[in-house]
Amino acid sequence: MQDTPIRTIGITTGGGDCPGLNAVIRAAVICAVRRHKWQVIGIPDGFEGLLAPQRCRSLGLSEVNGILTRGGTILGTTNRANPFSYRVQEDGHERVRDLSDQVVANVRALGIDALIIVGGDGTQKIGLGLAEKGLRVVGVPKTIDNDLSATDSTFGFDTAVHVATEAVDRLHTTAESHHRVMLLEVMGRDAGWIALHAGLAGGAHAILIPEIPFAIEPLCAFIRQRDAQQQTYSIIVVAEGVRLPAELQALREPAGPGAARFTGAVSNLIGDAIASRTRHEVRVTVLGHTQRGGSPSPFDRVLSTRFGVAAVEMLARGEFGHMAALRGAEVISVPLVEACARMKAVNSDGELVRTARSIGVSFGDVPEVV
Ligand code: F6P
Repeated sequence: MQDTPIRTIGITTGGGDCPGLNAVIRAAVICAVRRHKWQVIGIPDGFEGLLAPQRCRSLGLSEVNGILTRGGTILGTTNRANPFSYRVQEDGHERVRDLSDQVVANVRALGIDALIIVGGDGTQKIGLGLAEKGLRVVGVPKTIDNDLSATDSTFGFDTAVHVATEAVDRLHTTAESHHRVMLLEVMGRDAGWIALHAGLAGGAHAILIPEIPFAIEPLCAFIRQRDAQQQTYSIIVVAEGVRLPAELQALREPAGPGAARFTGAVSNLIGDAIASRTRHEVRVTVLGHTQRGGSPSPFDRVLSTRFGVAAVEMLARGEFGHMAALRGAEVISVPLVEACARMKAVNSDGELVRTARSIGVSFGDVPEVV
């Protein structure tokens, strides 16, 4: 299969959605159809669609008309369909099965010569597994979390930072009027990129991120210090994946027996701890999926378009098992193995954090001089 010419490609979007997915699909389809005269097949709901091939449909120029600015993905997505460990119901029990051979067989039966897989780290790992089984695959990195080490930026991140920054901006005025401490919890999974960028862009006073362990007392000391200087309100941006001090972690409730996730927002626990240790009223805003919804920012539209075209050109050049990535001003191609190797965390002693500290931002680890 590796040597046959490409006539038909498939495209799928896996994992959580994010703004810019449709812009990638549009760019890839236009480039494939116009420039290379290829057919494109849209695979619905991530790898789920390859386990139900009758749901796959042809994607032509008319199908991608007008979707550049639309959030979400016209193909649909899921973050629960890993063909290498697929959950099936058998005899009333849930079992985990490796259905990857079935996926490979279905790709071939659909006449798909090569696949573009758009997704975050989990999706790219599946893409790598399918490439190792002989499929011709290229990856396009997406995630609002910006935590893929192989690329300077993923599309979706800029839009999420815009949404979060607007929220910080809006919290300033109401927090100031009421002399309150306001916490804004943002997404980002195990990385603090969204919190750090939105916190800096919005002029937050404290930013709590997973990469910098914090404690309640230094954070409260920082707020009291601000009080003493007649700065009677504080804005704290909290990354959802922040590591809680032991006394707060003990208060968290697992989402269910054996669950890997916890219920509730971490900032509620942090907010309660601040309220009981300072004279402030505390309010908590959890931004949630608003960061993932809606139209992509101009930066993300451009990056998505570049990635969509790059993926098609990588297929045309035979660079299978690679992922498009942004390095500096260029879009390059990196091996999927490298792309999946490690996550990109905020450097706790890097220039961004040092800049924030230099302008008095607290990370809740040591009392800052304000
Ligand atoms: O990875 C993107 C992301 O939005 C994370 O920031 C967040 O933790 C997670 O997905 C939420 O996933 P779900 O949409 O399944 O709740």
